[in-house]
This record gives sequence, C-alpha cells and structure tokens, in this order.
Amino acid sequence: MRVFSGIRPTGNLHLGNYLGAMRQWITIQEKEDCVFCVVDLHAITTPYDPKNLKANIFELAIDYLAAGLNPEKCILFIQSSVKEHAELAWLLGTVTPLGELKRMTQFKDKSKQHPEYVNAGLLNYPILMAADILLYQTDIVPIGKDQQQHVELTREIVRDFNKRFGQILKEPRALLPQVGDKIMSLTEPDKKMSKTGNPKSFIGLFEEPESIKAKIMAAVTDTGKDIKFNPVKKPGISNLLTIYSLASGKPIEELEKQFEKKRYSDFKNSLAEYLAEYLKPFSKKRKELLTREVYVNDILRRGSQKAATIAQSTMQEIKTAMGL
Ligand code: TRP
Repeated sequence: MRVFSGIRPTGNLHLGNYLGAMRQWITIQEKEDCVFCVVDLHAITTPYDPKNLKANIFELAIDYLAAGLNPEKCILFIQSSVKEHAELAWLLGTVTPLGELKRMTQFKDKSKQHPEYVNAGLLNYPILMAADILLYQTDIVPIGKDQQQHVELTREIVRDFNKRFGQILKEPRALLPQVGDKIMSLTEPDKKMSKTGNPKSFIGLFEEPESIKAKIMAAVTDTGKDIKFNPVKKPGISNLLTIYSLASGKPIEELEKQFEKKRYSDFKNSLAEYLAEYLKPFSKKRKELLTREVYVNDILRRGSQKAATIAQSTMQEIKTAMGL
C-alpha cells in the first residue's frame, strides 16, 4: 500500500508532532511503500521570512531523519523539487467547489490569525494537499486529527474527478493516531501543542534535558491532587498522562496505578526524567546529521528523483483524461 504524508517546515518538530503523527511513519515505513515530504509550498501560505526558509527546509529533512525515517525504506523529498505538485494543484482547482474551501476550519482559523495575509494560496491549501496525496496514488495518509477535514475533501475531489473523467484517481483514507490524537499545550492544556506558541507550551524533539525538565515541572496542572485521566475535568494531568503513556508504552491505567498515592510533583519528576532520557538519542543523531550536509542532500536528491518518476506518470494519465 502507498502511504503519503507531509510536514510544513515552520520551526522545529515538537513532542506533539512526534507522538501524535510522526511515530506512525516510523513504524509504517517498515511494511508499506512510504513517501514523506517536506511541504515547503504549503509553508509560504502563512507569513514567513524567505531568508530562513531554505535552512528550515533542510533542517526539517534532518529532523525527519533524526526522528527515525530511513531513506532506504521510504522516499523522502522536498515538495517544491517535484513540479508536478503545483501543476496538479492547478488542475484539481478546476474541480474543487469554492464553497468547500471556504468552509475549511484551518482556512478560517488562519485567516483570523493573520488577517493581513489571507491570500488565495491559503484558501487553496487543501487543493495542493490533495495534489500531494493523489500524485502518488496514495492509499493511506497518516495525519493528525486537525488535517482530517482536508483528507475528506481530497476524497470528495477524487469522486468528482473520477465521475467526470473516468476512474483515474485513487480515494485515500486518513490514518489517525490511536491514543491521544492530540498532545495539548503544557501551559494551556485546552489548546493543541504548537511550535508557534509560547516556548514553555511545547517540548522540542531535540531539546536539552535541563529545559525539558524545567518545562514539565512548570506544566499547568489542575485543582485536586489525584493523578487520574479525565480530559474534561483534569486537562493538564490528562495531557501529561497521555505524553507519559505514549513515550513509555505503558497504558494510562497502569500509570494511574503507579502514581496512585503520589503527588503531582512526584509524577512530574518521573515524567521529566523519562522524557529527558527518551529524547537524548534524537538530539545526538540530529547533531551528527547537521555535519553531514552532502549526505543529506544526496538523500533528498534521490528521493526527489524517485518521487518525480511516480508523479510524472500519474500526471500523464490525468492530463490525458482531462483532454490536455
Ligand atoms: N497540511 C498538513 C499539515 O499542516 C501538511 C501536509 C501537506 C500534508 N500535504 C500533505 C499531510 C499531504 C498529509 C498529506 O499538517
């Protein structure tokens, strides 16, 4: 089965990205035919500094590798290096209803967030995402819950397209993370963990142990003193339990038992220690890769060649079907 997913190169990966989405990629690359992409064309739909973009793209590729993507087992490449992505997005734009695009939650959120930067690309973002997915005749799209709506729209585009032009495109399906769809912010546990928020609200995948510990110890908890999973009444502790469970592989109930008579601070101490150890190998690998620019560029170049071969063949079929 073909698997496709992407992450925008906007700042470093955090624990939420990793536990929520990326970890699935690492497992799935062992058994399926995986294509992973640094989606730089998506990144330019929100405010950014062109002086930093190139470095961010490259670093995200390094982050992917440091987090465990294996270039022998998957295709890793940069979106803008395969021009068919932009080309197919244009074609799909002609079969996507405007009303659907305007309804997308992410479009509405981002328009509110950056009212001075509501460009057509932001509106068309889901079309480019559909193009990414459909160029590779993807079966499965591992994503966070916030992107599910975009995959649903992709499925509608496929159905409309195939009705008009013949059975050309494959209808993909979203693969959501199982436990803890969402890792929440450490400072505002009712919001998603995000790398653009307050630095205390997230833990970077490559953060130093001291700073990891400080952030966990400072994480917002709830009134009361029981270490019990209850996202509605105890969003702070529940989020920390989710993080602990996902990182350690221990079920939440087991953690609740382990910390039954303990204080919040005992629990946080234990989690802080665990996470600092857990994340050490990631930093080590990343530091090493940062000194191997030629090697990383070579991986990306080969990835881009493999991706282009698949993309070009799909593109040819699509153009023929559309009468171009
Ligand atoms: N929109 C996704 C996000 O913000 C990133 C993305 C772009 C993507 N193209 C994709 C994810 C294709 C899955 C498949 O997280």
